[in-house]
This record gives sequence, C-alpha cells and structure tokens, in this order.
Amino acid sequence: MSDLNDLRDTYLAQISDAADEASLEAVRLAAVGKKGEVSLKMRELGKMTPEERQVAGPALNALKDEINASLAARKTALIDDALNARLATEWLDVSLDGRPRRAGTIHPVSQVTEEVVAIFSDLGFAVADGPQIESDWNNFDALNIPPEHPARQEHDTFYMHRAEGDNRPPHVLRTHTSPVQIRYMSEYGAPCRVIAPGRVYRADYDQTHTPMFHQYEGLCIDKDISMANLKWTLEEFCRAFFEVDNIELRFRASHFPFTEPSAEVDIRCSWAGGQLKIGEGDDWMEILGSGMVHPNVLTAAGVDPKEYQGFAFGMGIDRLAMLKYGIPDLRAFFDSDLRWLRNYGFAALDQPSLHGGLTR
Ligand code: DAH
Repeated sequence: MSDLNDLRDTYLAQISDAADEASLEAVRLAAVGKKGEVSLKMRELGKMTPEERQVAGPALNALKDEINASLAARKTALIDDALNARLATEWLDVSLDGRPRRAGTIHPVSQVTEEVVAIFSDLGFAVADGPQIESDWNNFDALNIPPEHPARQEHDTFYMHRAEGDNRPPHVLRTHTSPVQIRYMSEYGAPCRVIAPGRVYRADYDQTHTPMFHQYEGLCIDKDISMANLKWTLEEFCRAFFEVDNIELRFRASHFPFTEPSAEVDIRCSWAGGQLKIGEGDDWMEILGSGMVHPNVLTAAGVDPKEYQGFAFGMGIDRLAMLKYGIPDLRAFFDSDLRWLRNYGFAALDQPSLHGGLTR
C-alpha cells in the first residue's frame, strides 16, 4: 500500500508541475498509459491471491481514477492559462477604421440617366430601349428622312460594313434615339408615354462632341395631346432636374423631318462671371429639339394619325451632365481617367429619386 501512496504522491506532484500540455501527456503515459506504472501494477493483480486482489484491486482503481481526474483538471487549467496569456498580450482595437479601400463611382452619364428616369417615371413615362446598331429604315426612312434628305448628311452617320453580295438592308450606328419611337409604337401601338435613354453615334470630335454620346428620347402619344402638354412636361422636367423653381423655357420654331411643327427649346440662364445659373439672367441656352410627331412617322409605325397625335423630344444626356455638374470637356467623359472619375463620379449607394433628392 505504501508504494501506491508513493506512486500517488509522485504522479500528482508531476501533474501539478507539468508546465504545458506536452509534459502533461508524458506524465499521463508514464502513469496510466498502456505501459504506465499504474497499468503495469494492474496487470499484476492476476498473480495475486483472491484476498490480496480484493484489497489491491479497488486501491489501484481508485489511484487510476484519481490520477485521471487530476490530469483532466490540469489540462483544463493549462488551456485556460494559455488562453489568458494570449489575451493578455494580443489585443484588437475594434474601434479602428477599416483599411482604406477605394470604392468605384457612378459615372455622371449614369447618374444623369438615373435622374432623368426618376423624373419621368414620376410623370408616368415608361422606359424603352432599342439597339445601337439600327436599320437605316428605323434610323431615317421611318422618321420621315428619305435617302436624298440633307439630314442624312448632317448626321455624319457611321454605316455598317457590308461584304460584297450581302444584300441585307443597310444598317447604321444609330445617330439618335428617335428610332426607338418607331420600335416602340410598332410593337405597342398608341397611346403611349415613354422615354428612351441610350448611346448614339456620329463621326464628330471636339470639346463638345464625341463619336459616341448619349441622348434620351421622349414620346407621348394619345388622342388629345398638344404642344401645351409638351411645354408643361419639359418645364416640369427642367424644374426637377436643375432643382430650380423659376424655370423659363422659350420655344423657337425649327425644323426636324420627324416633327411638325418643330421647336428647339431654350432655357433662360445667366453666364455671369463664367458661372452658369439656370432660371435667371438674360441668356438663352438651347437644350433640346422637339415637336408634334409627324403624321408620316405615326403611319410608318402603324399608328393612325387621324386618331392619334402627340409630342416627341430629344435631349443630350452628356450635355445635361456638363451643364448641371459644371464639367467643361465632353471628351474627358470617355477617357476612363480614374482621377476624373473620382472627381466627377457619384457615390454608388445614392440612388437619385424625387423624394430622396436627385443629387447628394
Ligand atoms: N433626333 C434629334 C437629334 O438627334 C433630336 C430630336 C428633335 C428628337 C426633335 C425628337 C424631336 O424627338 O421631336 O438631333
């Protein structure tokens, strides 16, 4: 019995001295592992007389249990100590800012398109779409611009290449968004109220012209639509878009093949001190072309001009962006210069809306 007491004292001391999990495991193997001292002693039980075994058996089992319990307790203590030691040395300031990461920005063209869509949605206009490669029928003929019409030259059109023997009808990069009028009315008929923003192309390049630019088309057809509705709609648009209450528009007689009568629309503004102010001053700035849709256009799109009439207009999106956000050179819009994009871009999460504000 006394050597069991010795074993007990030795191992319990070693367990409490074990400084880490590895030394604790070594003690475990030496004591109660397969070839550990306590295990070997248990094997000797077989050689004992039953009387001896009755005393030694329970004593050994108790010793083994005590050592195992002590091992488990020490192990938990070591794990806790290790964790406490880590916690004492390692720390994290959760109030620190995140690592700076450059977020992308919304391009002014996208921003203005969203603004235009928000305003016209509120006026009950749906958004329509058309392809950038357009048949010359939709781009010209159906819009009352026959092949010999001078407007075809004015548009500096990009024609799609056709291989010799390719007899498909000629296609162009659309020179304006007006063909969407034809597509929309041909498909959905009248009445209708849509805007169609998108890319258009003309062979032209200077400070205010790029070969690709953006327009949006407006179209409103019903049985009792007049120029008065056009004027009101455009005033509402300008008031909301430029965020100025006293908007004044001037309709100037003009000519577009697809409208009769046609009007170019100017907005009252001032350039005093080189700064544009909308709604005040003695200057007028042209912002769009418009008119009452020509009966030939309605007919080409399958709408009966005796029953329906309405207005259409076309506006440059890039130009609106330049005016509203004071961007001097159109060409920079499409240079993909990150410095420009960061300067003129908009935060991605700020969705323009009439109630929430168009720009922030
Ligand atoms: N399509 C014309 C252009 O690109 C703009 C335009 C003028 C559109 C009058 C219209 C309109 O719908 O009625 O210059």
